[in-house]
Amino acid sequence: MATKKEMDEIKDAISDEDEESSKKKKKKSDDVKEPELTDLPGIGPAVAAKLESAGILDMMSLAVMSPASLGDAAGVSPAVARKAIQAARNMLDLGFCDGMEFAKKRANVNYITTGSKNLDELLGGRGIESKSITEAFGAFGSGKTQLGLSLAVNVQMPLAQGGAEGKCVFIDTEGTFRPERIKQFADGIGANPEKVLKNILVARAFNSDHQMLLLEKIGELIKAGEPIRLLIVDSLTAHFRAEYAGRGQLADRQQKLNRYMHDLMKLAETYNLAVYVTNQVMANPAQMFGDPTTAIGGNIVGHASTYRIYLRRGKAGSRVAKLIDSPNLPDNEAVYFVTTAGIKDKE
Ligand code: GTP
Ligand code: MG
Repeated sequence: MATKKEMDEIKDAISDEDEESSKKKKKKSDDVKEPELTDLPGIGPAVAAKLESAGILDMMSLAVMSPASLGDAAGVSPAVARKAIQAARNMLDLGFCDGMEFAKKRANVNYITTGSKNLDELLGGRGIESKSITEAFGAFGSGKTQLGLSLAVNVQMPLAQGGAEGKCVFIDTEGTFRPERIKQFADGIGANPEKVLKNILVARAFNSDHQMLLLEKIGELIKAGEPIRLLIVDSLTAHFRAEYAGRGQLADRQQKLNRYMHDLMKLAETYNLAVYVTNQVMANPAQMFGDPTTAIGGNIVGHASTYRIYLRRGKAGSRVAKLIDSPNLPDNEAVYFVTTAGIKDKE
C-alpha cells in the first residue's frame, strides 16, 4: 500500500505539465538521437521527401532495404542507393556487438507495473519491459483490455512507483477504450483522472491498413517531443482476422502480420518503448489435452512477442496469467484480480 507521501508524489508527478517537467520530458525524448535521412550521401531534401512518401521515415527502414528497392522508391541510381544504404548501416552500427555492449544497450530499459505484484513477478519482477513486446492472449472477457487500461495509467507514474514517467499511445481496433475505466484506475492510484486521461493518446484503427499506418505517426509524435513510453494495440489481430478470413488468404494475412510485428519491434527498440498487444484465441480441435485454445496469428505473432501471457478466469473471481516461452524466465503462473480500482493481488 502506498503511503500518503507517496500518493502525493504520484499526484505531483502526474499533475500539470509545468514548464520544468515538460522541459525535462522534452530533453528525455531528445536523448533518442536519431540521424536524419538527409545526413546520408546522395539523399537531399527532395529524395528524402520521396522516401517519406513511400513510408521510409527513418534510418533503420532504409538500412534494411536493397539497393534496387531503394532505387525504385527514391528514383536514384543503384550506385547512389548502395552508397546511401551502406552509410545508413554504418551510422546505425548494425551487426555484432559484444555482450558488454549489449548489456549497456539494455541498461536504459524501463518497466511499467501492471498493478499486481504477482503479475509483475511473473514478468520478471517489475512489470512489462521497454524494448520488447508483451502479448496477452485469452478468451473474451479474460481481462486483456483491462490490463492494457491499467498499464496506460501506470506508465505515467514516477519511476520509483513502477511507472516510466511517460505518456501512452492506445491503438483501439475494437472500440473498447473506456475513459470512465481510466478514471477509476487513476482514482485507484490517487492520481487526477482528467490529467491521466490527457496523457493517453487514443486512436481508433478502422481496418488493418489504418492500423499499420498509425504506427508511422508514433515516430512522428516522439520526434515532436511527446514523451511516449508505452504503445498499446488492442486488439492486435482482430482486423487481420476479419479481413483475411478465407483459407486461401492465410498466407497474405500472416505476411502482413509479420510486417506489423516487425514494425512494432522496431518502434520499441528505436524509442525505448514498452509495447503491449492483445490477441484473441480460437478453438484448436487438434489439441486433445489441456486447454484447446491457441492464439491467433500463430508462430508469427508468438515468435515476435518477447513475452507472451495467456489470461484466463480462475477460481472465485480471480484471474490467472500464464507465461509462455519467455527468453529469460521460467514458464509460470500468477493469480490476480481485476477490481474497480485496478489490477490487484487481492479483491
Ligand atoms: P475481449 O476484448 O472481448 O476479447 O475481452 P478482454 O480480454 O479484453 O476482456 P476485458 O479486459 O474487457 O475484461 C472484461 C472483464 O473485466 C469483465 O468481464 C469484468 O469481469 C472485468 N471488469 C471490467 N470492468 C470492471 C470493473 O469496473 N470492476 C470490476 N470488478 N471488474 C471489471
Ligand atoms: Mg478487449
